[in-house]
Amino acid sequence: MKRSIRSEALLFSLCFFFLTTCHSVFASAAELTAEHSDTEKLLALTFDDGPSSSVTPKLLDGLAERGVHATFFLIGNRIEGNEALVTRMESEGHQVGIHTYSHVAITGLTQTQFYRQIGRTRELLTSILGEESFPLRPPYGFVDKNVIQWSNAPIILWSVDPKDWSDHNVQRIASVMINQASPGDIILLHDIFSSTVEATLTAVDELLRQGYYFVTVEELFSAYGILLENGTIYRCAPNTSADQTTFYPRRYEDD
Ligand code: NI
Repeated sequence: MKRSIRSEALLFSLCFFFLTTCHSVFASAAELTAEHSDTEKLLALTFDDGPSSSVTPKLLDGLAERGVHATFFLIGNRIEGNEALVTRMESEGHQVGIHTYSHVAITGLTQTQFYRQIGRTRELLTSILGEESFPLRPPYGFVDKNVIQWSNAPIILWSVDPKDWSDHNVQRIASVMINQASPGDIILLHDIFSSTVEATLTAVDELLRQGYYFVTVEELFSAYGILLENGTIYRCAPNTSADQTTFYPRRYEDD
């Protein structure tokens, strides 16, 4: 467990070099339609790598107390035994998505391997929640042409990364969330650390005070008049087609 978290941390660090800030590329408030004035400040919290039977319930309690909705990208092999948590997520207004079956990078897989990671996890979620569309968060944000072609889901990346796995420092993680968040952002977190729960709730309280609203990924894009499409990469709202070729250029060119 310890080793996998450390290697994930390394990959996340490498991956960060390919990120540019969302809002240097895309205008935010100015591009909003009239019914969404700049007083309407929307953010999407996203939690990867769960569910965790010990951590996720505390997070759900804290979000429910505050009337905050989030999106959970689940690991298939952690769903089994935690079905009630998945049901609870949806019944409390959260969105549920796929983060592979066993947390592997999904670039360079055969179609069979890809199915075992994504299709199998989708079937598990469908067996619990019924037929619906589950967005995909690729581990490490790694995407290639096959991921786009085979995903059969909107591909959701992120625009704010507090690196909550790196030091578990509640104050630092909360500060990054508070200082870097701007309207339309998707914030990357992990509901497998108690420190993340504490940091999230601290930051949420401050951002609520600043007039932000927390919505699911689907609700975020819907508010901007964007219907999520399968095989399209999203990392903040609004999103443009330019995103498709500029986000991880090395991954695309290597393919
Ligand atoms: Ni992950």
